[in-house]
Amino acid sequence: MGRLDGKVAIVTGAGRGHGEAVALRFAAEGAAVALCDVIAAEQLEERVGNRIRAHGGQALCLRTDVSQEDDVSRMVEDTLSCFGTVDILVNVVGIAGPTEDVWTMSLASWRTTLTVNLDSMFLCCKYALPEMIRKQYGRVINFSSGTGKQPLSHRTPYATSKMGVIGFTRTLAADVGRYNITVNAICPGTHEERTMELERARAAYRGAEFDEEGARRRYRERGPKAVIAGRWCADEGFVEKGSGSEDAAGIAVFLASDDAANMSGQDINSGGWVMW
Ligand SMILES: NC(=O)c1ccc[n+]([C@@H]2O[C@H](COP(=O)([O-])OP(=O)(O)OC[C@H]3O[C@@H](n4cnc5c(N)ncnc54)[C@H](O)[C@@H]3O)[C@@H](O)[C@H]2O)c1
Repeated sequence: MGRLDGKVAIVTGAGRGHGEAVALRFAAEGAAVALCDVIAAEQLEERVGNRIRAHGGQALCLRTDVSQEDDVSRMVEDTLSCFGTVDILVNVVGIAGPTEDVWTMSLASWRTTLTVNLDSMFLCCKYALPEMIRKQYGRVINFSSGTGKQPLSHRTPYATSKMGVIGFTRTLAADVGRYNITVNAICPGTHEERTMELERARAAYRGAEFDEEGARRRYRERGPKAVIAGRWCADEGFVEKGSGSEDAAGIAVFLASDDAANMSGQDINSGGWVMW
């Protein structure tokens, strides 16, 4: 028996990284999963949907830009038509945004990061919550970051959006508790590809060369499960942060399960580099 048997979940950003890991784990725990990503639906099928079906799971692959209201409303409608309901919404999508200082950054870069990272969460909740309220049951899980709790130099839009996710989570949790809906956030550490993107951008900011081979070697030596407890995220600290997508996916399964029925408004860290 799976921990999510009979449940229907929407997972955004399911084509890669944390979203992919959450979608695969949810399906393995018995949930029917609507996978959404801005990549083509055929690509999403190939990367994730077919793997779920090959193990006997149910998957619906939808090309959705979660920063666009029409796309999000269609995504929820398609999920309802295919699976009949929605019990769990996992808002995973988040972009890194520019590595640049406020005084040189364009307003467009600032807005794009906030739109993709925050408007998307608002929109997905706006369209999924009416079904959860109707059935008096729901689980909303929002992806913040360790950067939702402490600064990350030269990355103001990202940090602002991830701190915003925590405020959004707490406030929404207070508003929907009476409908038996919980709302929680996960603050993950980095996976390898995202770490490389961040390191590359940071090297460019410094005008330094990026030693990708060395960065990958250091990341792998640490291992995805390494926990660097309480370490502050110094400029050079990226590759020393532990925790991979699987860790966050495990927390998401717990938050979606009956074991977390009375937890709401929480922001849970994965990776050990933030302790509050
Ligand atoms: N990986 C990390 O280092 C890390 C650390 C802390 C927090 N997080 C957070 O975890 C979440 C997932 O991060 P990740 O690194 O696994 O992401 P990722 O970049 O590996 O994958 C994100 C997925 O979202 C999709 N996507 C991007 N924009 C979209 C849009 N507008 N609509 C629909 N899909 C879109 C991409 O195509 C991609 O498949 C994000 O919210 C991120 O901020 C990540």
